[in-house]
Amino acid sequence: MDKITISVIKADVGGYVGHSSMHPNLVAKANQMLDEHKKKGLIVDFHVTHCGDDLDLIITHRHGYDNGEIHKMAWDIFIEGTNIAKELKLYGAGQDLLSDAFSGNVKGLGPGCSEMELEERKSEPVIIFAADKTSPGAWNMPLYKMFADPFNTIGLVIDPSMHDGFIFDVLDIFENKTVRMNSPEDIYDLLCLIGASEHYIIKNVFKKDGLIAASTSTQRVNLMAGRYVGKDDPVMIVRCQSGLPAVGEVMEPFAMAYMVTGWMRGSHWGPFMPVSVNDANPTRFDGPPRVIALGFQLANGMLIGPRDMFADVSYDLARQEANEIANYIRRHGPFEPQRLPLSDMEYTTLPHVLKKLKDRFK
Ligand code: 13P
Ligand code: 13P
Ligand code: MG
Ligand code: MG
Repeated sequence: MDKITISVIKADVGGYVGHSSMHPNLVAKANQMLDEHKKKGLIVDFHVTHCGDDLDLIITHRHGYDNGEIHKMAWDIFIEGTNIAKELKLYGAGQDLLSDAFSGNVKGLGPGCSEMELEERKSEPVIIFAADKTSPGAWNMPLYKMFADPFNTIGLVIDPSMHDGFIFDVLDIFENKTVRMNSPEDIYDLLCLIGASEHYIIKNVFKKDGLIAASTSTQRVNLMAGRYVGKDDPVMIVRCQSGLPAVGEVMEPFAMAYMVTGWMRGSHWGPFMPVSVNDANPTRFDGPPRVIALGFQLANGMLIGPRDMFADVSYDLARQEANEIANYIRRHGPFEPQRLPLSDMEYTTLPHVLKKLKDRFK
């Protein structure tokens, strides 16, 4: 059977209200346009969702990675969404579209993109994660836990088909170079890199036999634009079961509301709150940062689902923990560690302030 490609392409083309959520007209437009492409046969199936103010297009097709037609289709949807956002005067209309013209691939133009080409197994459970108010390094800790930490994933210990471990591709986003690392052999070196999640980002995870297991979006809008246009609000695709972590092992890392960068003005630390799509509307101090998880069973490329995976009472404690941490860290106001260190802030007035104070420094 032909290989199937899952493309998750996302952009913030206008927030409703402020940066908090998505206007339903944008979702409706994306659904309508994707439905036309499905009927014409360009794509096999699709699902449109949002996390906060980010529009997430989940698409299956048979055209492989970096396909011009698929990327153009997504780009056109974001352009149409921007037009609606402009009519409604939504906030930051066209925020993530850094260019007026499409040049063959959405990468580098602002939208985020994660793609995975695979041969569908007998049963193919996949989970699509999408985030708002954070950066792509947010996936480092959960990916490590899923694929390398036996305290999270018991399959690494007791499932013979997982016992060999996994391969991690880690991207240095400043040098734009990737290093391939093995787990468990290289885990101390791996942690040395990915613990610095604003610098080193896990791009892909593979089984030792080469089977693709996970893929993330690693675009950094702020670096590309050379100015602040929002944190990337990344997406991730993870395959599950049968030699890969079980669905529950893939979900488990999010039971702890770990700290991520982003939140207000992309310049703060905050707890990553796992929520259902209905609760993916970050409002308090534009946050705290959110993550949603949509589960699908692939069936000949059809997306059977979604199941809204965090719509589960077993994540209530993580949400409560996130609210408590948010409450505590917010009280630091403009002080670190609520505010990011100078090097990672997306906004700064420091040069201006230093210039003004130049003569007052004695
Ligand atoms: P199965 O034997 O049904 O695959 O269950 C194992 C498992 O993955 C539990 O999460
Ligand atoms: P977004 O990146 O989600 O648009 O958020 C920007 C921001 O500044 C929130 O305070
Ligand atoms: Mg926004
Ligand atoms: Mg956003």
